[in-house]
Amino acid sequence: MPRVLVAYGSRYGTSEEIANHMATILREHDIEVDVADLRSRPSIDLENYDGIIVGSGIKVGRWTKEAEQLLKELAGAPSKVKIGVFVSCLQVLTNPEGTHSSYLDEKLKKMGVGADIGEAFSGKIDFSSESRMGMLDKRMVSMAAKEMEQKSGIEIDRNGVNDFRDWDAIETFARTFAALCTPSENRAD
Ligand SMILES: Cc1cc2nc3c(=O)[nH]c(=O)nc-3n(C[C@H](O)[C@H](O)[C@H](O)COP(=O)(O)O)c2cc1C
Repeated sequence: MPRVLVAYGSRYGTSEEIANHMATILREHDIEVDVADLRSRPSIDLENYDGIIVGSGIKVGRWTKEAEQLLKELAGAPSKVKIGVFVSCLQVLTNPEGTHSSYLDEKLKKMGVGADIGEAFSGKIDFSSESRMGMLDKRMVSMAAKEMEQKSGIEIDRNGVNDFRDWDAIETFARTFAALCTPSENRAD
């Protein structure tokens, strides 16, 4: 059975939920999956995996530092290991190509990582009373949201949950990655 690690850096829980959903889909495809919250500094042996997915939320243009650290390590991963990379963010709603280029392509190039698959997913912004955002975060996002609304016509609820995640796209990513990690003679398709 192929073994895959899904590792994430998530400030507000969005990428965490994406990673967990990917793990569910991968398991449906007979993949053994470990999920790792990179904030807890897990020790990861890259040699143990046929595939590694690393994902991060974006804050002020930045990956979480823990996810960035794992990316650095992936530059030295054995070449047999398949690599999947994702970010969750909001800019992708208004500028998909620019987002892919700045948050994925340029980042991977800088880190010297060759990914087999990379995707920028639209994320979630939560202004509700359950939100993990502090006052400062809310103010910052509120200002950015105004520009987003003008550019795209998307309305942001300043009191509720704005979940822009495209679960079909997330599942497609996971299925594609499962196929990449499965020897062709064992594939269902
Ligand atoms: C304070 C703050 C700053 C953000 N900055 C950006 C940004 O620079 N670019 C972007 O595309 N999204 C930005 N976002 C949106 C987040 O990337 C989005 O909410 C994402 O889903 C968060 O993922 P996480 O919960 O896994 O950290 C920001 C969100 C917050 C709260």
